Amino acid sequence: MTKLSVNINKVATLRNARGGNTPDVLAVAKDCELFGGEGITVHPRPDQRHITYNDVYQLKPQIKTEFNIEGYPCDEFIDLVLKVKPHQVTLVPDAPDAITSNAGWDVASNFELLSELVDKFTSAGIRTSIFVGTDLENIKLAAKTGTDRVELYTEPYAKEYPESPDKAVAPFVEAAKLARSLGLGVNAGHDLSLENLEFFSKSIPWLEEVSIGHALISDALYLGLKETIRRYKECLL
Ligand code: PXP
Repeated sequence: MTKLSVNINKVATLRNARGGNTPDVLAVAKDCELFGGEGITVHPRPDQRHITYNDVYQLKPQIKTEFNIEGYPCDEFIDLVLKVKPHQVTLVPDAPDAITSNAGWDVASNFELLSELVDKFTSAGIRTSIFVGTDLENIKLAAKTGTDRVELYTEPYAKEYPESPDKAVAPFVEAAKLARSLGLGVNAGHDLSLENLEFFSKSIPWLEEVSIGHALISDALYLGLKETIRRYKECLL
């Protein structure tokens, strides 16, 4: 069964808008688990405008499901991950000032960096995942870094889905088949929503995990967190 990891960055963004502790990021993380979330994802950035490094340290002992830290591997990020030792680290090529991640890695031009990082995190007992698009050669190279998983960058799927679901998902099915044949676990994320998740999940039933933030937290404004998580999980059955 595909796991739902809730990305709680947007909760921290809301909290940071006022400088106090409302909403309480730790409490929200625990409630996500209580309501059925099977993991918590955070994406700390060097400017700490969403999740702060302190949040990450505080979250670690509280999280009873799977903790996934994603981000660009600057020195501070690497240090944080090695200290916190989450279950999984997802390496994302977003520049420090990017609003959000908007592409996967070009593995060829970052092969040494990624291989070294995979080695470092694996030695520390942390599962690794590399954020990639659907280019097949790129995924073959990602497998050669020794990573455990890849995370497919699903924004292009989400964009095309309303027009043509089959066409939108086809390259992702190909990419996920190749990844599986190379022994890689497959995660996915970016712009997945109640509208497009079920079709994606049914098309790639061997998907290990989706991490979802923006749409899920937005839906929670109308539906409440408990009902929202229930509905996302229903899409993954
Ligand atoms: N996966 C990665 C690597 C991301 O950078 C993000 C956005 O922070 C997500 C998943 C979640 O995307 P969304 O917020 O659109 O659900």
